[in-house]
Amino acid sequence: MTKSTCALMILSVTLASGAAAADLSEVVNECEACHGPGGVSSEEDVPSLAGKSVNYLREVLDQFYYYERHCKTTTYRHGDRAKTPMTMCNVANSLSEDEKQALAEYFASQ
Ligand code: HEC
Repeated sequence: MTKSTCALMILSVTLASGAAAADLSEVVNECEACHGPGGVSSEEDVPSLAGKSVNYLREVLDQFYYYERHCKTTTYRHGDRAKTPMTMCNVANSLSEDEKQALAEYFASQ
């Protein structure tokens, strides 16, 4: 790896974990790998997120974040990680406060 590629990688990691989360689309893709495009699920055991209220989505994400809601092990349905096991608690714990809020607003508006 060249020095400049390395610097670029560090820069993009810093941006991705930055509080402002300028680009939400990567995280949205992650959600959509289970919840379906636009949060409209075609999977019986994965709920749709589209059109649920911001407050509801935000509250549930916090419940998963604090392990207040049971996290059953599920699997990715689409994309590169299809069939890889994952839980909503692990997903929620990878999110910043700003990302939880932004995702709640995004899926509520779908
Ligand atoms: C590996 C698959 C998977 C990924 C990735 C995933 N989810 Fe989930 N999610 C589920 C499943 C399955 C449930 C329902 C089971 C449960 O409650 O544990 C769920 C439940 C939820 C709920 C509760 C919905 C309701 O009506 O009760 C919300 C909100 C949610 N997910 C948001 C998200 C967001 C936002 C992301 C992306 C940051 C995301 N999920 C990523 C599989 C996933």
